[in-house]
Amino acid sequence: MGVRLRGSIRVPGDKSVSHRAFLIPALAEGTAVVRNALDSEDVARSRALAEAFGATVVRDGEGWRVTGGPPREPPDVVDCGNSGTTMRLGCGVLAHAPGLRVLTGDGSLRTRPMARILGPLAQLGLEVRGREGDTRAPLVLRGGVERTGTFDLPVASAQVKSAILLAGKARGVRVREPERSRDHTERLLTAMGADLTTHADGWLELRPSRWEAVDIDVPGDLSSAAFWLAAAATLPGSEVVLPGVGVNPTRDGVLRALLAMGADITIEPDAQAIEPTATLVVRGSGLVGARIDGELALASLDELPVLAVVAALAEGETVIADAAELRVKESDRIARVVAGLRAFGARVEERPDGMVIEGGRFGGPRPRIDAHGDHRLAMAFAVAGLHHPDGVELVHAESVRTSYPSFFDHLAALKEAR
Ligand code: S3P
Repeated sequence: MGVRLRGSIRVPGDKSVSHRAFLIPALAEGTAVVRNALDSEDVARSRALAEAFGATVVRDGEGWRVTGGPPREPPDVVDCGNSGTTMRLGCGVLAHAPGLRVLTGDGSLRTRPMARILGPLAQLGLEVRGREGDTRAPLVLRGGVERTGTFDLPVASAQVKSAILLAGKARGVRVREPERSRDHTERLLTAMGADLTTHADGWLELRPSRWEAVDIDVPGDLSSAAFWLAAAATLPGSEVVLPGVGVNPTRDGVLRALLAMGADITIEPDAQAIEPTATLVVRGSGLVGARIDGELALASLDELPVLAVVAALAEGETVIADAAELRVKESDRIARVVAGLRAFGARVEERPDGMVIEGGRFGGPRPRIDAHGDHRLAMAFAVAGLHHPDGVELVHAESVRTSYPSFFDHLAALKEAR
């Protein structure tokens, strides 16, 4: 007997926007009321970093109230846990704090590339050091931005772009990416009155200006909704309604990719706010393979693991390309997705910047997947498990607390036997 998903789920607040909702008002004047922030381990790290910097963060019935600095001497060691966003954007915040400190994290974070932020920060006059030739955390950072800078980045990365913009608050900065990554920082800074211009040739130009806190309604996280979109789209008889989900066009690649694969998804937009949101309705249908590369791969980067699962269940071939950045996420997501799909009996070819997946059915012995250190793999393979006749044995599935602590409760609420 198979399963289907039916019901309505309000997915938790967007992780990227929640990080920014604590970190950016820390640098601003006044108080931001933050509603619907994600309550997860990663976001708690950013909240703690904002407080360490000098912000006052208070919870009340409405949400969180974040009141900006003045910067104080933060603790010597700031632990960013598993969170790359906390470490990278956090460097941009701590660039404005006096004194010297160490930023560290868990085993996964300490292997992730940091030269991409240390280089620009050093050019702005900050003293920064890292392990392994200034490429890895723990990082040592001495606050004090001395000059402006111009950065034509080699890799599209919202974390790097945001770290530079935050560090550039006092003296201004110019930054350009080869392709536009998620623009949550630009949207929030603009709403806060920052003097930020996006030029037609892709350059972002930030001039020194006053930032005034604004209230922030954090949208539902499309990256979390993606698991229900993927599961319901591939399970016949499913129908799932997802209200209030963020559909920022620099982030909505998973929707576009699923639609290209033939998914039955309707998108009913809400009234405009800092971030656009919509009610998404998804129904089970037959899917076909697609090509996910270029801008589409960038706009669906965090969802590529679950899109790979969908591809393995679709008819025909799917090519995922231009996604080498997946190798330096919470784990090497190309290697681990390929290995995981093969454990489900799928035919997958690994490529340096992605993979080629031959669609079919899952079978063979019950797969065992270790999601150690990577929340998105735990959830992607939980979705895959709905399609294996014997389910899946997920080890270290508790990693879901990084971004979606209620994931398994929501799965239980939606799941129906058919
Ligand atoms: C994020 C940016 C992306 C994304 C990550 C969150 C952000 O990383 O994969 O999950 O909030 O800025 P990169 O900027 O390193 O590509």
